[in-house]
Amino acid sequence: MNHIANILYDEKQKIFHLRGKDYSYIMQICRDGYLGHLYWGKRLRSYHGSMNFRFADRPFSPNPYAGDRTFSLDTFPQELPAFGNTDFRVPAIQLEWPDGSRITDFRYESHRIFEGKPELDGLPATYVESDDEAATLEITLKDSYYPVSVVLSYTVFRDENVLARSVKICNQMEEEIKILKIASMNVDFRENEWKLLQLSGAWGSERQMIERTVEPGICQIESRRGASSHQHNPFVALMRKGADESSGEVYGCNLVYSGNFLAQIEVDGFHNTRINMGINPFDFSWRLEPDGTFQTPEVVMVYSSQGLGEMSRTFHSLYRRRLCRGLFRDQERPILINNWEATYFDFDQEKIVGIARQASELGIELLVLDDGWFGKRNVDTGSLGDWSVNNNKLPGGLDGLAGLVNQTGMKFGLWVEPEMVSPDSDLYRAHPDWCLHVPNRNRSESRNQLVLDFSRKDVRDYILNMMINILESAPIQYIKWDMNRNMTEVGSVSLPGKNQQEVSHRYILGLYEVLESLVCRFPNVLFESCSGGGGRFDPGMLYYMPQTWTSDDTDAVERLKIQYGTSILYPAISMGSHVSAVPNHQVHRFTDLKMRGDVAMSGNFGYELDLTKLTLEESAQIRDQICLYKKIRGLIQFGEQYRLLNPFKDGRTAWMFVSVDQSQAYVCYFKHMGYAQEEFCTLRLQGLEPSFLYATDEGDVFGGDELMYAGIPLPQLDGDYKSYVVSLRKTENIVPE
Ligand code: DGJ
Repeated sequence: MNHIANILYDEKQKIFHLRGKDYSYIMQICRDGYLGHLYWGKRLRSYHGSMNFRFADRPFSPNPYAGDRTFSLDTFPQELPAFGNTDFRVPAIQLEWPDGSRITDFRYESHRIFEGKPELDGLPATYVESDDEAATLEITLKDSYYPVSVVLSYTVFRDENVLARSVKICNQMEEEIKILKIASMNVDFRENEWKLLQLSGAWGSERQMIERTVEPGICQIESRRGASSHQHNPFVALMRKGADESSGEVYGCNLVYSGNFLAQIEVDGFHNTRINMGINPFDFSWRLEPDGTFQTPEVVMVYSSQGLGEMSRTFHSLYRRRLCRGLFRDQERPILINNWEATYFDFDQEKIVGIARQASELGIELLVLDDGWFGKRNVDTGSLGDWSVNNNKLPGGLDGLAGLVNQTGMKFGLWVEPEMVSPDSDLYRAHPDWCLHVPNRNRSESRNQLVLDFSRKDVRDYILNMMINILESAPIQYIKWDMNRNMTEVGSVSLPGKNQQEVSHRYILGLYEVLESLVCRFPNVLFESCSGGGGRFDPGMLYYMPQTWTSDDTDAVERLKIQYGTSILYPAISMGSHVSAVPNHQVHRFTDLKMRGDVAMSGNFGYELDLTKLTLEESAQIRDQICLYKKIRGLIQFGEQYRLLNPFKDGRTAWMFVSVDQSQAYVCYFKHMGYAQEEFCTLRLQGLEPSFLYATDEGDVFGGDELMYAGIPLPQLDGDYKSYVVSLRKTENIVPE
């Protein structure tokens, strides 16, 4: 097939025109098979050559064709720039051939256009439920000398402004080749006036919005920590000069991967910008055997002509509907109570059941028993790996406790950290070689623990069986899968020396394999991923587990930035957010219960404090919060989010959620500091239907146009860090003209 609705191929000019909902992505095969990039931007009805390649003699940009000084890959916009033959910019691919040389020269060989989207072997990815939801183009490039080909895959989603890209390398040689670098995508823009947005931070301050101007040279966002990390989310966005939250062109790229990644943005001397992204080539290489294939993870590329807000809503909708899977994808999520900040390791059955009783009475739906229920785990110095219940704390075992929790009317959930082992554990004593380590080198600990070697099948089988046993031992309806350190001394004694640089990626593939088996075997269990909070909040994990503990920092004020930054990519339904006690355990700040509730209710809601110690007044307030959340939960979890005031810029925060049919909205406003002379503020809303009338719970009625163009009046809030929320519902009332 040469073309279908969203993917056109002009055979004469050798032009591929991918037409998304509102974007076009155009490529051309040039000269002897070089695959060049022409355009990515607002949708074009048809393409007539405005972006055709231009050539000029550029001194010091060498020329593959002798005698033609105008053609150089150094200045040619490409889809898969390679190393070594005239392009000095960062390559997307670098291979090492059996003779030790590293020059590749990939040229167009064939292509295939078809409806639907194939799965990626062993890797998480976005998907379709029926073939008419997307169309895919696969372009095969072949090295000009060796029988090695590369398949570039492009999927255009029909209903979203999304292009999903990945790459597969196929070795048809009789010898092994070595992959030194393979990015999942590359785009060469012929312009250089951008702002770069990244989501960076650390433990307790994940996904802070960082914007900077893109300058000549290379800027890299990466993780070398073995996980996508607290430090940098596998995401970058290029924002055209002047673009902001609600206007201008934005190009967002997010890697569906949970391990080491690299995004590079290079501006060259000719005013071009190259962006590529994929597995981090740092300390990575892969031996590809004869007839072997290597599949890269996928990059989700979102185009927005209406600023960051629109980009985020595209990511949210795609991730909610076509990345997350399983029974819970479309279900409202339970309000939970987690005992971590309530008790830490200091609990027993009586304490947990006491919390459960109170929680149930308040309307909470799920109790999650956190760390400390197994082995001799009364502190964080040991027992990871020894996943048998501590009968001193829980005399009835997990089954007994789950039964008692169920009797209160609540579901029972459990914390685990299966990827880890404590040196002080029976598992480690029995299998000291089961952790990632390098012989004759120190095994550096972090939180007193080591990382199990998930590149090993025996380790994976053991852990999977352990999880199956736990899940079959009691009525467990939720699992929090935690991971509390990053990787050092990365090595596997099960692999020969020449494969040691594969370990980090093999680890992630192994993790995905275990998660896939587990979620398929236990479809009725709701899984939440966690890594010291949001240290692995990435689309790879969301494919297996539809929600993530956003951050270990539960302070309502710090959470404003964390949740705002997280919402750049991830929908509210995926963001675990809990009310905790004051003074807050991480920042020691007092905020009132209303503010704490309003911040947490903007995500996947729960509590993380000792409910048995509440005053009557606090209990009443919490009961009301739970009641309110049950009413607005559908809107928050399945509505569209509009960010109104940015805590990184405005000193105030506001966002709102609008139902898909625009008949309901929920608006949250958070004032940061108090002032002697408070302004009278109005807040301009977004996403409403201008012609609808909306009523507040207090009975005020406003037009949708009025709320968006003039704004909703905000009350004066006394003091620092105060919140105001308002529900809006479409009404039939007529306001007088
Ligand atoms: C880190 C998590 O983020 C916390 O919520 C808690 O589960 C602890 N680990 C338990 O060790």
